[in-house]
Amino acid sequence: MVGRLEGKNAIVTGAAGGIGLETTILMLREGASVLMADISDEGLNKALSKVNSVVPASTRTGKVETKVVDVSNESHIEAAVAHLDAWGGLDIIFNNAGIMHPKDGDSEECPEDIWDRTMNINVKGVWYGSKHAVRAFRRHGKKRASVINTASMVALVGAATPQLAYTASKGAVLAMTRELAIVHAREGFRFNSLCPAPLNTPLLQDWLGDDKEKRFRREVHFPTGRFGEAVEQAHAVIFLASDESSFVNATDFVVDGGLTKAYVTPEGPATEAPKNLAA
Ligand SMILES: NC(=O)c1ccc[n+]([C@@H]2O[C@H](COP(=O)([O-])OP(=O)(O)OC[C@H]3O[C@@H](n4cnc5c(N)ncnc54)[C@H](O)[C@@H]3O)[C@@H](O)[C@H]2O)c1
Repeated sequence: MVGRLEGKNAIVTGAAGGIGLETTILMLREGASVLMADISDEGLNKALSKVNSVVPASTRTGKVETKVVDVSNESHIEAAVAHLDAWGGLDIIFNNAGIMHPKDGDSEECPEDIWDRTMNINVKGVWYGSKHAVRAFRRHGKKRASVINTASMVALVGAATPQLAYTASKGAVLAMTRELAIVHAREGFRFNSLCPAPLNTPLLQDWLGDDKEKRFRREVHFPTGRFGEAVEQAHAVIFLASDESSFVNATDFVVDGGLTKAYVTPEGPATEAPKNLAA
């Protein structure tokens, strides 16, 4: 059977864990070649061995490689995109790397250096990824290409547990992605934002730790009674990356179990969560 991304070349940033790692695995299963990009060399090595055990080389048609990339450094992004020139050129970029800093807070609490760092990674990183993707698509004469930028549901609803820099950065991702989508629509380059709900990944769970009150304050808002799993985001990314979504452009693609549409949520046990592929 031909994969849904057969023959396509993809870059995934933030590929060492969470959504990025799950997406890498699914992309390989669907026939893509993937460059896993992340700031953590150690994280990439661990992630690559996981990928090779879940999707062994004998079962895939595409290749997988890793590259240490700081998305806030334009020359790193440019080099990562250029790396795929030898593969036939970039078709898909998933600008997914992002941080949510523990020192982030309300307008009084958030230090300026944390604000700047968050913007540099979460916003500039997405800009650089989008910019060099467009250059590569043009360089290789691509007529169909897909850019998926990770925003967050916190860019759509307010929260009384503020992370001002993070929220502002994700709002910028939505606005920037929408504009890029319109600018490049007639070239066949699609841009969509992914808006995940709070997830069961280290980014959030390490920060919540054992604090039951902090956890409950968030969990109660989920209609399904549970946080999302990274693999549930990855499935959405595969759709947005593939030609199946050829008429889906400029969307705030919300994958949140209904959270942003809920007022009072049901009681009772939570639904069963799917297992992450790298678990
Ligand atoms: N986890 C959540 O609850 C949640 C909710 C909404 C949106 N998101 C967003 O989803 C994306 C992925 O998050 P995740 O939950 O998979 O987190 P994660 O922490 O598991 O993965 C993030 C990855 O990004 C990498 N990274 C950090 N800074 C980088 C940089 N400067 N350059 C390159 N790589 C860098 C990290 O090393 C890590 O591997 C982020 O943009 C995040 O803001 C997460």
